[in-house]
Amino acid sequence: MNINGFEIDEALIMENMMGPNAVRILEEMTRSVEIDEGMRILDLGCGKGLTSMFLAKKFGATVYATDLWISATENYERFKEQGMEDKIIPIHAEAHELPYADEFFDIIISVDSYHYFGFEDGYLDEHLAPLLKKGGRILVGVPGLKEEFTGEVPEELEPFYQHDYHFHTCQWWTELWKASKLVEGISSRELDCHQQAWDEWLRCDNEHAQEDIAMMEAEGGKYYATVFIGATRK
Ligand SMILES: C[S@@+](CC[C@H](N)C(=O)[O-])C[C@H]1O[C@@H](n2cnc3c(N)ncnc32)[C@H](O)[C@@H]1O
Repeated sequence: MNINGFEIDEALIMENMMGPNAVRILEEMTRSVEIDEGMRILDLGCGKGLTSMFLAKKFGATVYATDLWISATENYERFKEQGMEDKIIPIHAEAHELPYADEFFDIIISVDSYHYFGFEDGYLDEHLAPLLKKGGRILVGVPGLKEEFTGEVPEELEPFYQHDYHFHTCQWWTELWKASKLVEGISSRELDCHQQAWDEWLRCDNEHAQEDIAMMEAEGGKYYATVFIGATRK
């Protein structure tokens, strides 16, 4: 699979995706970010580690591949198969109890998982931003909305949209992060790769992808966006 000029094993991606193509999303999120091999990166909610492998392979950085649903052992086996076990450290942890020292990371990234926990007031300052070095960057990509739903969920999405989805607009995430005392330079935008990332997800065999086909047909490109939010540690 070619992701903006970077070749990645398509079978590896198709077997391990857990949502809209996280590697494609991450590639767009990191295009203008300086990442080098001396850096330590936290990949929070890495799932089966596709984004961690991309970061290690493309930039040579050391990645702490951290996830809740997928065990460290399962991810370690995958990283060994790919010959990347020296660059990626698999960690099993919950996002509110991250086992890292303050100011340990140069960059924190999170793709398609931050909306499960990061929507809470205060989460960023209490649990995540302290782990970043001063001047370090936090980069988040999540499924979101073009416009906030006011009142009811649109009728065509009713059968699919769960009330714990926490999909929100760029503006909503920006307002949430503006309350932070630890980050500055907040920016947010809808990513161009949204449609392609979803199309690739819906093509894979994962049972959740198969379930999402009907939702995306009903959504018809009207409501959803892939939202990026970034900031710098003060
Ligand atoms: C839809 S999957 C996406 C996985 C991966 N980022 C990807 O795109 O392939 C969401 C991930 O968020 C992680 N997650 C959800 N809640 C979490 C929590 N409270 N702490 C840590 N990880 C969490 C899950 O373990 C899961 O792997």
